[in-house]
Amino acid sequence: MCKKVCTRIIILLFSYLPIIAQAQKALPVPPPFRVDNLVCEYKINPISVDEATPRLGWKLITRDRNIQQIAYEVRVGSNAVSLLKGKELLWTSGKVASGESLHVYYAGPALASRQKVYWQVRIWNNRQQVTPWSMVNSWKMGLLKPADWSAKWIEDNYQSDTTGGPSPMFRKTFKIDHKVRAAHLYITAHGLYEAQFNGKRIGTDYFAPGWTSYNKRLQYQVYDVTADLLKGDNAVGVTLGDGWYRGYTYNRKKNVYGTKLGLLFQLEIVYTNGKRILINSDKTWKVAYGPIRSSSFFDGEVYDARKEKKGWSTIAYKDLNWDSVRTIDTVKDNLVATFGPPVRKHEIFKPLKVFTTPAGEHVVDFGQNLVGWVQFKLKAKAGDTVKLFHAEVLDQKGNFYTKNLRTAKQENTYIFKGDSIETFEPHFTFQGFRYLKVEGYNGTLDSTNVAAFAVYSDMAQTGMFSTSNPLINQLQHNIQWGQKGNFVDVPTDCPQRDERMGWTGDAQAFCRTATFNMDVAGFFTKWLKDLSADQHKNGAVPYVIPNMLDSASAAASGWSDVATIVPWNIYLAYGDKQVLENQYPSMIAWVGYITRHTRNGLWDTGNHFGDWLFYAGTDYEDGAALTDKNLIAQAFYAYSTQLVINAATILGKDDDVKKYTQLLADIKKAFQAEYVTPNGRMISGTQTSYVLALNFDLLPENLRESAAKRLVSNIEDYDEHITTGFLGTPYICHVLSRFGHTDIAYDLLMKESYPSWLYPVKNGATTIWERWDGIKPNGTFEDPEMNSFNHYAYGAIGDWMYRVIAGINTDEGAPGFHKINIFPHPGGKLTNANAELETLYGKVKSAWSIDNGIFTLDIIVPPNTTAQITLPAVDGPVTESNIDINTNKDIANIKPVGGDMQMDVGSGTYQFKYILKTHKKNS
Ligand code: BGC
Repeated sequence: MCKKVCTRIIILLFSYLPIIAQAQKALPVPPPFRVDNLVCEYKINPISVDEATPRLGWKLITRDRNIQQIAYEVRVGSNAVSLLKGKELLWTSGKVASGESLHVYYAGPALASRQKVYWQVRIWNNRQQVTPWSMVNSWKMGLLKPADWSAKWIEDNYQSDTTGGPSPMFRKTFKIDHKVRAAHLYITAHGLYEAQFNGKRIGTDYFAPGWTSYNKRLQYQVYDVTADLLKGDNAVGVTLGDGWYRGYTYNRKKNVYGTKLGLLFQLEIVYTNGKRILINSDKTWKVAYGPIRSSSFFDGEVYDARKEKKGWSTIAYKDLNWDSVRTIDTVKDNLVATFGPPVRKHEIFKPLKVFTTPAGEHVVDFGQNLVGWVQFKLKAKAGDTVKLFHAEVLDQKGNFYTKNLRTAKQENTYIFKGDSIETFEPHFTFQGFRYLKVEGYNGTLDSTNVAAFAVYSDMAQTGMFSTSNPLINQLQHNIQWGQKGNFVDVPTDCPQRDERMGWTGDAQAFCRTATFNMDVAGFFTKWLKDLSADQHKNGAVPYVIPNMLDSASAAASGWSDVATIVPWNIYLAYGDKQVLENQYPSMIAWVGYITRHTRNGLWDTGNHFGDWLFYAGTDYEDGAALTDKNLIAQAFYAYSTQLVINAATILGKDDDVKKYTQLLADIKKAFQAEYVTPNGRMISGTQTSYVLALNFDLLPENLRESAAKRLVSNIEDYDEHITTGFLGTPYICHVLSRFGHTDIAYDLLMKESYPSWLYPVKNGATTIWERWDGIKPNGTFEDPEMNSFNHYAYGAIGDWMYRVIAGINTDEGAPGFHKINIFPHPGGKLTNANAELETLYGKVKSAWSIDNGIFTLDIIVPPNTTAQITLPAVDGPVTESNIDINTNKDIANIKPVGGDMQMDVGSGTYQFKYILKTHKKNS
């Protein structure tokens, strides 16, 4: 049989060879200098843009060194074919003398709702070369006005409060009586939705429409469904789930945004004859309950397969017993296009181990603490029930441990219909887990019938970091998985217990690290819009965004400062001025709020979380590492004010620069008077205290060196252990490096005993723990009331690993890595470190290794950027690609700085080699 098939394949292959060869010949070879990766508002070919003047960006592709863009030309048209001929243009920028290749504003005529335009760009470089016109990309506008929505909100007519009950399924049939040119679905829901056309799921997004401050901003999604429609009769079905809209949440609260689930559905079809028809949600739809008996993020899903309505979204289905729906007149002015990435399925995990615990539990270990759900394919009798329980850890005895989930059940239940093999995946829930406990099925579980899916916001992985130390590599892995698990449409504190909210303190602590691991521009830009929407009128920034806590105007230092810190970090990582422009009112409102709550220039009022979860020895509230909460508040007050000054400078708001510069001077003066002795001793002699004072430049210049030494001696007193909490941790190693103590920073990083970053790693962690000692040195767990094993805040060290160990940094004066500062710091007995970052300009790389005292540094600087490179601890001559740097034409401005060597380069790939001076401790 195989022989026959193989012979056939070979014959086929031979008969096609001439065609393949011809095709290969015909394939155009891409020019060596070209422009690619055309994006509009960070997306490739988006179909729901609601910015009036969308921003465009591109990447230069070349292997040559030292390539800069010196001019660009963008052209936009309504028709791709005419555009290619340069005809019937809607707008052309003309040749613009500019190096800008990111965030270039469309400046043509105003675009209408639904309008689709095509665009191209070509660029000139500093070698008098011009690229061919790029490929044609497009963008399509969304529905810009409430009046563009002719669909009606529909709801079921069942009893008013069904939260925690079955998921309603909505259905409608319609006819297509002409050839379709294009069909777009505009859809959103009160609750979560999953839509199907003719039995097929639409799109690959989960938990749509995402979580926003619903009453003020409800996102709609747009799907191109041209290929999903059939000639003639069609059917559509949409299932709704409680989700964030009304599902059980923190403190078992429910109906946060409303009591009724609802659907808004507008299908716009354009026939080839130009006729436009609409299939809208309206009174003609029908509704029924189906197999999803309940669904909740915290508690999981109950699915009764016996209640499935086979083929319910196909035309063949008879919906005679279905009920009518009602339409609701609700304002539609809160509808906005979707800015961030959708939540999607990513990695699949097969069981690492299937075993029975000492307590007799049937457990699967997936080997990774992840966020998502389990899929199974099993066979059983109708009515048989399988229950899936999810846990992050096993207890000391090796039994399934769920106490730290608090009231979140994390339990999926499936009731079989008695078919052949039945496949189950939940719909409107996710779980945080590594271990699965199965009840009700005693057969074998293995990789053929059970798998776990990781589910998170669809952010491209942009960063890579590895070293010669496997524990540090595991730490980096854990940081990335902490990010994956907690970036589920909003940045959450944790993904497993009954919390899962957008805690602002955690997000600000981790944000900069996040920008190194993944493309989070869209993710945070969207979330910041909700921050502005939920900020109180008096400027207070809630503890969580979207704000679903009652706290009327609560605000806390280090948490609410997210309003200034995240916009600034997004600006640095992506060079995005617009985000500063958008957030500026929120930033100044926040600083205004603090100022109004000061007494004699000191912010010493209100409730603060302080340096949350710092190392407290045996006594949580009263350890020697306890930092005065008001000192912290004043420090963050200063930092937020500094960031307002930075933003005002960039936005050209000169009066504000003056005003806030004066305010900052006053804040620092008050800080020094209250919290620092004349000799520079802080009233809280803790690591966090010195770290914040130094990082935010709160001490007079002449006291900084000695303060850094006090920090070092504090660290030494703790035998080189870290004692900071959420607020000090992100900055401690940066402060040490800035004041010449990178060796001590390495000591902290490499420490394996508690408290340290590697202690959880040594204890088998696969994500970042909430506490330094989630599992205590004696093997017992921390208080289950607060002991998440997937909390990203302490993962904030990742930023230092990229920026200092590998030494990849953006110059603040040329953000978004337009100018890159590369300054690796060998140490910690590492023999190599390698980091790569896909910036908006292209890949940056810094990889160093030490072999027999020879330091080799491989660098990539993307086109249209430049880099200042600082080679550490240079001893003797330096070569680049085997040429002495002093005679190397691609290297400029070489100068020694201390024992290091600094120089400037243009884009390209470089390899430096020299003998490393090894005087530093730890090297
Ligand atoms: C969350 C934290 C959060 C904190 C505020 C906790 O319950 O999990 O990460 O920042 O509350 O204190």
